[in-house]
Amino acid sequence: MIDRPIPHCAARASLAALAGIVLFAASLPSPASAQDKPARAQIERGRYLVTTSGCHDCHTPMKMGASGPEPDMSRMLSGHPDALTLPPAPRLPEGPWLVVSSATNTAFAGPWGVSYSANLTPDAMTGLGQWSLKDFKGTIRSGRHLGRGREVLPPMPIPAYKHFNDADLGAIFAYLRSIPPVTNRVPEPMAPMAAK
Ligand code: HEC
Repeated sequence: MIDRPIPHCAARASLAALAGIVLFAASLPSPASAQDKPARAQIERGRYLVTTSGCHDCHTPMKMGASGPEPDMSRMLSGHPDALTLPPAPRLPEGPWLVVSSATNTAFAGPWGVSYSANLTPDAMTGLGQWSLKDFKGTIRSGRHLGRGREVLPPMPIPAYKHFNDADLGAIFAYLRSIPPVTNRVPEPMAPMAAK
C-alpha cells in the first residue's frame, strides 16, 4: 500500500507546532544544569583539597611501579588493602626512631599501637557510604569517630585538618562521595600491647 502524502498545510502546521515546542523547551532554564554547576564546582574544589592536603599519601595504597613506589589509583582512597595481612610490627630498639609504616603506607605502628588508614570511598558497607556530612565534619573537628566514638589515631593529621573551614570540609566530603566506591574492609586498629 502506498502512503498517502500528508496534505500540505497540515504538515506545515505540525512542523510549526514542533518548532514552537522545541523553542519553548530551549528557553526554559534547565533545573538540572542550574543546580549541577555549583555542585560540580564544589566537587572540583574537594578534589583540589584532597590532592593538595595529602589524603592520597596514606589512604591510597602504594604499589611498586617501574620507577619506584607509586599510588595504586585503581584502589584510590580505599585505605589499607584488606588482603594484605601484616606480620606483627617490628619492635624498635630504645632510641630516637619511633614509627614504622608498611610499604603501602597504609599501616602505621607507633606508641599508639597499629593503625590502618580508612576506606574513604562511598562504598556503603566498608567505606563512608553511610556517613552524612555531619558525621564527616564531626570526625575531623573532634578527632573522634563520627564525632562521638573512639579517638582517631595517628598519623591521621587531625590537629591540622580540624582547622579546615565548613566550606572546605563540605567540598572534601562532596568529592569523596563522587569517587568510585571500592569494597575494602580495613582492619580494626591494634592497641599497643596487642601490637607487640
Ligand atoms: C599521614 C597519614 C594520613 C593522612 C595524610 C590522612 N589520613 Fe585519614 N587516616 C589515617 C589513618 C591511619 C586513619 C585510621 C585512624 C584510626 O583507625 O583511628 C585515618 C582515618 C581517617 C578517617 C576515618 C576516621 C574514622 O573515625 O573512621 C577519615 C574520614 C579520614 N582519615 C579522612 C582523611 C582525609 C579527608 C584526608 C586528607 C584531607 C586524610 N584522611 C589524610 C591516616 C592519614
